[in-house]
Amino acid sequence: MAATDAPIPDLRGRADACADRLRAADRVLLVSHIDADGLTSAAIASSALARASIDHRVVFEKQLDDDAIAGIAARDHEVVLFTDFGSGQLDAIATHETRGDFVPVIADHHQPADADTRYHLNPLLEGIDGASELSGAGASYVLARALEGPAVDNRDLAALAVVGAVGDMQDGGGGLVGANEAIVADGVDAGVLESRTDIDLYGRQTRPLPKLLEYASDVRIPGISGDEAGAIRFLRGVDVDATDDDGDWRRWVDLTDAEQQTLASALIRRAVSSGVPADRVDALVGTSYTLLDEAVGTALRDVSEFSTLLNATARYDRADVGLAVCLGDRGAALEEAHRLLRSHRRNLSEGLQWVKTEGVTDEPNLQWFDAGSRIRETIVGIVAGMAASSSAVDRGKPVVAFAEASDVELKVSARGTGLLVRRGLDLSVVMRDASRAVGGDGGGHDVAAGATIPAEARDAFLERANALVGDQLS
Ligand code: C5P
Ligand code: C5P
Ligand code: ZN
Repeated sequence: MAATDAPIPDLRGRADACADRLRAADRVLLVSHIDADGLTSAAIASSALARASIDHRVVFEKQLDDDAIAGIAARDHEVVLFTDFGSGQLDAIATHETRGDFVPVIADHHQPADADTRYHLNPLLEGIDGASELSGAGASYVLARALEGPAVDNRDLAALAVVGAVGDMQDGGGGLVGANEAIVADGVDAGVLESRTDIDLYGRQTRPLPKLLEYASDVRIPGISGDEAGAIRFLRGVDVDATDDDGDWRRWVDLTDAEQQTLASALIRRAVSSGVPADRVDALVGTSYTLLDEAVGTALRDVSEFSTLLNATARYDRADVGLAVCLGDRGAALEEAHRLLRSHRRNLSEGLQWVKTEGVTDEPNLQWFDAGSRIRETIVGIVAGMAASSSAVDRGKPVVAFAEASDVELKVSARGTGLLVRRGLDLSVVMRDASRAVGGDGGGHDVAAGATIPAEARDAFLERANALVGDQLS
């Protein structure tokens, strides 16, 4: 039976029901989403199924639309386990369930559609926020704990669950909160995770110090951010050796605790003296999550860098590579992931640059850009998120981004802020209702959502979305 110490007690009943159904299944098809959270969800669920000796196959889908669900039904498995999606498509899934095509088991954190099913593990059904408190990987982890047998301890999988949560930006306020904290605690207990107060800059494990400072984009420090020479000048003025004996730049992880303290304090003083607002200065410090089984100085050791590496695989049709890395491949798959990461980075930086150069179009209640074929539809959401948190846009309105999905369809990605959500914004409703009104479909979270619409429907969609956002914020 399930573990006695369920990590999130409110979800225990649902997790146990799902686990029991999976144990009783002959053949399970595990279907997951193609992003960092979806990959880690699949790796967690697949590991737990394997440890419970439950026969299964793993496949990935870019999006769970009617065609994809029909394709899944055609694969003829008794039970289909959906991770990191499924709740938002429950209406379509229920049709197949009723027909006897398969029994769905769902571990997800997206806003559910107007339908329910028997084996449904979703934090939102128990009053836990699916955008900020539990990810798809977190839901899969809760399921994994419920799948434990007498000699099985699945707490090591908490490491991947934290990668998934951070990949979904659930650490927005500087660290993970709510249900996610229980998973962090499991990882720490199991000895696979360290959580500590640290400088909150991307690249602590792998970036040479000048790059760490230059590329830090969340908090802009004049004369350092986006300014390599400025970053180097700043480092020269601090009483910490920024280079090693060979004259190579050191990385954040190469510094001693005392050196990290000195450098962090100097950076904060510099931010204050250059007039960075107090709340932005505070954002320079946060919680870092370190995977203790990974080698020091590698992208896999820092959960944030790990999640970027995973996005670099699955969003380019190489989910197999990301899954293999999650499952422990440190040879050919990891090498391929690094190759993909280099081109992913280039795509993101070119995409963001394009948005900054072209600018966004303002509507009364939102701002938008249409990247056409310049930004790949699978990463336009990431670029929209980067744009939304940059100085390139008005932070008082959500950002809606379009990219070509095919000759006949447009991909839409929308991103808001925590402040807008507190004022009433729910982009999952905006994307679902505006897309359905023009013959498309969508959903997601309050703060981040997406849709697919017919190519010619862009302007009608925008008009609807603008009106919906206006209603929510009024
Ligand atoms: O499909 P999934 O739930 O995994 O995707 C979540 C998306 O929402 C990610 O692209 C993530 O960056 C975005 N997000 C965000 N801000 C949040 C929560 C999620 O931009 N606070
Ligand atoms: O694709 P993007 O990163 O913009 O997706 C943001 C969120 O909206 C994700 O959680 C994604 O799963 C969800 N989404 C959805 N239906 C779509 C497109 C995106 O539920 N058609
Ligand atoms: Zn997710």
